Amino acid sequence: MMDKKLISVANLYKRFNLEAGFFARQGNYVKAVNDVSFFIGRNESYGLVGESGSGKSTTARLLVKMYEADSGEISFHEQDDSINVRLLKGASLKSYREKVKYIFQDPARSLNPRMSIYEILTSGIKWSTAGAHDKKQLRDEAASLLEEVGLSSMDLDRKPSEFSGGQRQRISIARGLMMKPKLLICDEVVSALDVSVQAQILKLLIDLKESRNKAGMDLSFLFIAHNLKVASYFCDRIAVMYKGEIMEEASAKDLWKEHYHPYTSLLFSSAIGNDSIPKPADNTTPAESASVGSTPLSTADSAGCSFASRCPHAMEKCKIEKPEIKFPKDDHYFCCHL
Ligand SMILES: Nc1ncnc2c1ncn2[C@@H]1O[C@H](COP(=O)(O)OP(=O)(O)OP(=O)(O)O)[C@@H](O)[C@H]1O
Ligand code: SF4
Ligand SMILES: [Mg+2]
Repeated sequence: MMDKKLISVANLYKRFNLEAGFFARQGNYVKAVNDVSFFIGRNESYGLVGESGSGKSTTARLLVKMYEADSGEISFHEQDDSINVRLLKGASLKSYREKVKYIFQDPARSLNPRMSIYEILTSGIKWSTAGAHDKKQLRDEAASLLEEVGLSSMDLDRKPSEFSGGQRQRISIARGLMMKPKLLICDEVVSALDVSVQAQILKLLIDLKESRNKAGMDLSFLFIAHNLKVASYFCDRIAVMYKGEIMEEASAKDLWKEHYHPYTSLLFSSAIGNDSIPKPADNTTPAESASVGSTPLSTADSAGCSFASRCPHAMEKCKIEKPEIKFPKDDHYFCCHL
């Protein structure tokens, strides 16, 4: 168990109304995040994995206050202080968002096509709470970061359209790192890329983390992915999400070797093979299971297990009784009646 937490989340809830306007019916909502609790340690890579609609991005957006949570706690731990993220606003929220950066899936849309790479990398820092920066120093920093992510300092004056998808994702990563954040949220950063490019970007993220850790700088990741195999390669610990709930959480190695929730088995068996991405060290082949799709909406307050309608092992009890949390190990839990 990690003793130094960077961020912790307790009993987080977020619902979205399915209907808008004056005539919207009461109670017609989707439970996007439903009683989610986890923490991310310092220098740890934590994965949120699940099918489309399972609530991964909503959870991440709650962490940076792009959405307001309905209830629950989000605490950011700095030295001896703990910040209540839900209460942040104005300058303190701005300063927090410099420490927790969000990288989006689609760099083509998140990089302004009219700006040069230099402007993209430095636009945030110019307005940062740290105040004014020396121009020459800023350009040197941007150039060295660009080289670190595998591009050239000569690229600073080019526009995003001149780069491939993989290169644009490298630029997004460089932009995320420019403010020296403590936590980088990578929301499906490799999902839209070719398999071979995926492996290169994952390797880059690992190298960036290692180099910062060696230099004594904290850098943690919240890594969001559909593909459990990809997440197992990159992450230290993984939470498997379904219908806004965490179904199973464990170290990546443990989860690969021995997972207990039928949904985890389903995700492993459906993870598209990427032979350029190795397994976590020391593992066995994950169990085979049923077919994969996208998460159905979680709307009504169901009494039983939220996976019951798709589970190949569902019993009568599963439909009426919520499964309790079981701990096969101190740092491994799952929610299932089996
Ligand atoms: N702004 C919003 N308004 C209404 N519903 C939303 C909103 N954002 C998300 N939802 C709904 O909340 C649920 C969870 O969505 P979320 O985007 O968090 O899932 P996800 O796991 O990130 O999926 P994906 O893998 O497709 O990105 C979905 O049913 C989605 O339709
Ligand atoms: S509680 Fe029942 S329905 Fe839910 S995952 Fe376990 S066996 Fe399947
Ligand atoms: Mg998402």
